[in-house]
Amino acid sequence: MGAWYSAAKNDLTLLYHADEIDGFVGNIAVRINMHYENSDRLVLVCVLKGAALFMADLTRKITVPHEHRYITAKSYIGTESAGKVEVAMIENLDLAGKDVIIVDDIVDTGLTLKTLVEKISLLGPRSVECCTLLDKRSRRQCDVNVRYVGKVIEDHFVVGYGLDFDEKYRNLPYIAIKTTGGG
Ligand code: IMP
Ligand code: MG
Repeated sequence: MGAWYSAAKNDLTLLYHADEIDGFVGNIAVRINMHYENSDRLVLVCVLKGAALFMADLTRKITVPHEHRYITAKSYIGTESAGKVEVAMIENLDLAGKDVIIVDDIVDTGLTLKTLVEKISLLGPRSVECCTLLDKRSRRQCDVNVRYVGKVIEDHFVVGYGLDFDEKYRNLPYIAIKTTGGG
């Protein structure tokens, strides 16, 4: 057991260990490699900060030449959605004519991805698709098409592998359910 486990105390319940996550990422990469085999203009747009670790692993499994872009979107305070999405770094993304895949960590209400698809579509890309490691599908409130999903999960608040609770736990190499709010 590593230091992460002792740091976790009793407020976390393991959901997916690193090998399982690697499998989810690999399955998505296989599909992207197939669908974009003939594209010469693929761009992955990583939604910071949550998707940073997922992006780093996914990009190394994608064999089609592609570019990176990074934007930030924030909608959560603690374990609650704030109901509005703050987007930054969207200027100068240079996505005109590109095949864009928006890479996010988790879809909950869908408001973040819906907002991002709308904003990115205004930049004149050739195509826009969404990719998420985790999908809390039962919580969806917005109509947004997510083509690449690593794993559909139940309605739990999860942390680790980039996902945070008040900016903490992003470093965990596994994904866990946060069972108490207090830490
Ligand atoms: P949505 O806009 O409601 O779909 O929320 C999506 C964003 O909220 C994600 O990109 C995450 O940053 C954050 N989020 C939603 N659920 C969780 C969770 O269980 N753990 C950590 N972050 C979450
Ligand atoms: Mg996010």
